[in-house]
Amino acid sequence: MSSVPFTPDLSIKPEVTAFFDAPTNTISYVVKDPSSDACAVIDSVMDIDYAAGRITYDGADRIIAYIREHNLKLEWLIETHVHADHLSGAPYIQGKLGGKLGIGENITIVQDTFGKIFNEGTEFQRDGSQFDRLFKDGDSYSIGNLTAYAMHTPGHTPACMTHVMGDAAFVGDTLFMPDGGSARADFPGGDARTLYRSIQRVLSLPGEMRLFMCHDYGPNGREIQWETTVADEREHNIHVGKDATEDAFVAMREARDATLAMPRLIIPSLQVNMRAGRLPPKDDDGNVFLKVPVNGL
Ligand SMILES: [Fe+2]
Repeated sequence: MSSVPFTPDLSIKPEVTAFFDAPTNTISYVVKDPSSDACAVIDSVMDIDYAAGRITYDGADRIIAYIREHNLKLEWLIETHVHADHLSGAPYIQGKLGGKLGIGENITIVQDTFGKIFNEGTEFQRDGSQFDRLFKDGDSYSIGNLTAYAMHTPGHTPACMTHVMGDAAFVGDTLFMPDGGSARADFPGGDARTLYRSIQRVLSLPGEMRLFMCHDYGPNGREIQWETTVADEREHNIHVGKDATEDAFVAMREARDATLAMPRLIIPSLQVNMRAGRLPPKDDDGNVFLKVPVNGL
């Protein structure tokens, strides 16, 4: 794995509409093919009040309403990775609007790891079959007339992919805004050195390419932002910009990760997202439960 395994076409400029989920600082996107009514949804959110065990769909409903209002045809629901900080709204949106659900092929590694941690039985398949498409590095797919490419960018998790569509790239948690640096690399299957190399891959995309983040936390009190460029990240990213070396990055990342608490929603998120955003199966009485592994994480 080294350079970018496809040639981006920067003359194609998809229309990107962002939806910010304040409780989890997640940004979801509707990406529209500029030459047709086809679109994709990237990293949607299902709402949870974890203390109450209550699931709702206000955020996903906003995305559905937008797609309907603009008479778009939803062709893809993309997960950049198995999120540990929010639950995916993809199956709910797919149920209303159709489209295919895709994630990186290393979802199987994530399913194996967390299938064990949550002591799931044979009901839980670890072959990625909950998704419609498992992307390999360099794979392409169509959104109307727009060709999208998947690029494997592991490190935050083993299944992380960056999706490139025309002059826009959706980096998931591979990068944050320049003043936010990078995401943690200490979840099971994460690795700081791998993350550094994946980031270098993203930074080797053309400088003028637009980059869209999955998260922003408004560091130092600034307003929430989610869009930058490759050139801006190369120059200004506080963790990997300018002359940051791999060893310095790894030392910084590992020291910092050791201080971070687990994300508030990691336990429900992983149980649901490893199932492509579906809740665990109902019990004999028709009730749904989420588990809490004691000292398991
Ligand atoms: Fe993440």
